[in-house]
Amino acid sequence: MKKILLVAVLMMAVVLSGCSERYALKKDLKEALKVAVEQDKLQAAHMDGVEGQLPRTFENGEVKYTGPRGWVSGFFPGSLWLLYEHTGDEELKTLADKYTRRVESAKHDKGTHDLGFMIFCSFGNAYRLTGDEYYKGVIEEASKSLVTRYNPTVGCIRSWNTHRKENPELDFMVIIDNMMNLEMLEWVGGYDGITRSHAYTTIKNHFREDNSTYHVVAYNELTGEVVEKRTAQGVSNDSAWARGQSWGLYGYTMMYRMTGDETYLAQAVKIADYLIPRLPEDAVPNWDYDAEVKKKDSSAAAIMASALIELYGFTQNETYLATAEHQLRSLSSEAYLAKVGENGNFVLKHGVGHLPGKSEVDVPLSYGDYYFIEAAMRYLAL
Ligand code: GLY
Repeated sequence: MKKILLVAVLMMAVVLSGCSERYALKKDLKEALKVAVEQDKLQAAHMDGVEGQLPRTFENGEVKYTGPRGWVSGFFPGSLWLLYEHTGDEELKTLADKYTRRVESAKHDKGTHDLGFMIFCSFGNAYRLTGDEYYKGVIEEASKSLVTRYNPTVGCIRSWNTHRKENPELDFMVIIDNMMNLEMLEWVGGYDGITRSHAYTTIKNHFREDNSTYHVVAYNELTGEVVEKRTAQGVSNDSAWARGQSWGLYGYTMMYRMTGDETYLAQAVKIADYLIPRLPEDAVPNWDYDAEVKKKDSSAAAIMASALIELYGFTQNETYLATAEHQLRSLSSEAYLAKVGENGNFVLKHGVGHLPGKSEVDVPLSYGDYYFIEAAMRYLAL
């Protein structure tokens, strides 16, 4: 009897300590979101004087910008929309609308696959939160532009355009990141053949035996055959570039949400189960899981945390939630979270954009901020 009582008391203590840890994390995330609000308002005031541009990063003491057609243009307005959703603060809504409109001209750009990032993070959130048909029209227009990049022989939407002079037809590039752009097409509807084909072809050709993903697969656009599997932003062709792994995890989790297709859920689970045991002590991955050069990529952690919270919702797998919690605890600590007025008005420190290209190394990144805010809000909603 005494033994049963002791076990019951111990179990209760474990449950209570779990509850108090979750309560503490929620408290920290609410504080982190307050920092995000302050930082993004400061950024909005700064950007007011920089016509037509949007913030990208902070390097060498200066905020760096992108025009509407840069792949990161939608993340700052997207963050403002999320923070408006979180707070109900009308000032944030006004700012979100103002900076969303700066992205609009990208809707006609048929030269990029990133329209999902650019338009759906900005206009997608805008429409979701306001119901204003103007925003919806832009999303529909952008989707029409995006699907012009689909090649039925390959079965994928082209990512980057090739610069090869010789045999350019052998370099139809698809990168894992492109999974993210499917959300906009799924939302608009009517593109099921394209999204399904892209997602299934990517499962077939991008993933290795161990469920890590290549960054780039180059196809022969005339036959659909795979020509080469390689990297662009990772340390080597065979390595696991961290953000690419996170895009894959998020992409397939999102595709399950959008379609209910169990193949996508199974793929997301495989990716999560590959990644989680490879995380370092603070659960914020190195920029490439296989690189010897150590530079944390907070953006890869933020994207992964957001995806894992959603995947936990579909699977009830406690490891996924515990990993996301670990990542959010790290990201909301002073090791990664900026102080108000510092870090070029960005929220997270220590992101890596393109290390082999010597670009954006150990800097804040607008997409790191966006997915951190999203992950924090997803966690608070649990
Ligand atoms: N889509 C480009 C990147 O993640 O850096």
